[in-house]
Amino acid sequence: MLCPFLSYFFHIISFFRIRSFFFGSFLNRPFVSDKTTRLYISTPFLFPMIDDTLKIFKELTKKDFRILAGIELGMRDFEWVPVSEIQRFACMSLDKLNYRLEWLRRKKMVIGTLDPYEGYKIYFEAYDALALHTYVARKTFSAIGVEIGVGKESVVMEVLKEPEMAVADPEVFILKLHREGRTSFKQVKRTREHLAGKEHFSWIYAARLAANREFNIMQKLWPDVSIPKPIDQNRHTLVMEVAQGSELFKTKLLDPDWFLDEILRQIKLVYGKGIIHNDLSEYNIFVSEDGIQIIDWPQYVTLAHPHADELLRRDVENVLNHFSKKYKIRRDIDEIIREIKTENSIDLEKLKKEFPDDEVRLNAEMDREIESAVNELEDCGIDFEREN
Ligand SMILES: Nc1ncnc2c1ncn2[C@@H]1O[C@H](COP(=O)(O)OP(=O)(O)OP(=O)(O)O)[C@@H](O)[C@H]1O
Ligand SMILES: [Mg+2]
Repeated sequence: MLCPFLSYFFHIISFFRIRSFFFGSFLNRPFVSDKTTRLYISTPFLFPMIDDTLKIFKELTKKDFRILAGIELGMRDFEWVPVSEIQRFACMSLDKLNYRLEWLRRKKMVIGTLDPYEGYKIYFEAYDALALHTYVARKTFSAIGVEIGVGKESVVMEVLKEPEMAVADPEVFILKLHREGRTSFKQVKRTREHLAGKEHFSWIYAARLAANREFNIMQKLWPDVSIPKPIDQNRHTLVMEVAQGSELFKTKLLDPDWFLDEILRQIKLVYGKGIIHNDLSEYNIFVSEDGIQIIDWPQYVTLAHPHADELLRRDVENVLNHFSKKYKIRRDIDEIIREIKTENSIDLEKLKKEFPDDEVRLNAEMDREIESAVNELEDCGIDFEREN
């Protein structure tokens, strides 16, 4: 049997082997499509960090992850985390810590300052590495494949989970890394009231909040609603099953009426749970011979939202416009909205309780993570007093 240390390296190595072996996608999706090639958008200037992170990932040691996690936790209280704080987590002498910090700085995993004191912070590069490290440790997946999408506020990659038994095939999942704080201040603004005096933390907060919201709502909707199964979540990322088929916008449907009915049926199902997608369009709907699947949920709202009616109408309108333009199918939107709302007896007060404030949930989750980081520290004999 491999000792934990060796098996750790085995995983890291497999990350690279598989990546360099598969220059294409792990997936092969034959379907009635007018554009058979999949959408590969490479935007190295927008999101250069995931490839850089992957290059350096195999060189990071357990101690480096402790340092990065220490900076991550310290950033809740400091814009620049002092070396003394980092040392509380890092389990190493000051000399060794300084040496590793300098190495991490050269590799662009941490950013340092000497003014007004020596301190460090991390950005998405290290945050990605911390999340990947957690997934590998949890065995959620063990290898990373190609980038299959870059949205306005995310990077989406294929990942591979090796089977427990050698006889089974590896499974392919989707890893979505949220990037909210980087590309848009909209989300950051939304969370600003929770961040008084902690603006340096806003990108972590915004990206985490988005991943957390998306994973939670997917867990509530699956399997009743047709969405990819949510698998796991960590920090600003989530893992889910691969959506079946291809996106509606690049697919030529042979029976568009059937698919339109099915999409409207799913919208009604979601609405029946008190939820509106709030970014529904031909880009966020996958179609296959088995039906449809809706992706991209972080911006959902509940029916308690003051503009719920408008937002539902916009979602339905986007779908109808697509079918009208591409297939010349015309439907009466008012009739459809009436149909979606029939039989709906959602209790708004109950709904508000069922969906507690995002801040409360996110803070509870962050506390849980601190708890587990503290537990990890036990084995190096550091007496870490938790601050409230
Ligand atoms: N579960 C999945 N299975 C297959 N492909 C997926 C899945 N999730 C996301 N993708 C791909 O990644 C792209 C971006 O994902 P998603 O729409 O969730 O992110 P986004 O950043 O919110 O995008 P946008 O802002 O452009 O809507 C999708 O358009 C799709 O091509
Ligand atoms: Mg999308």
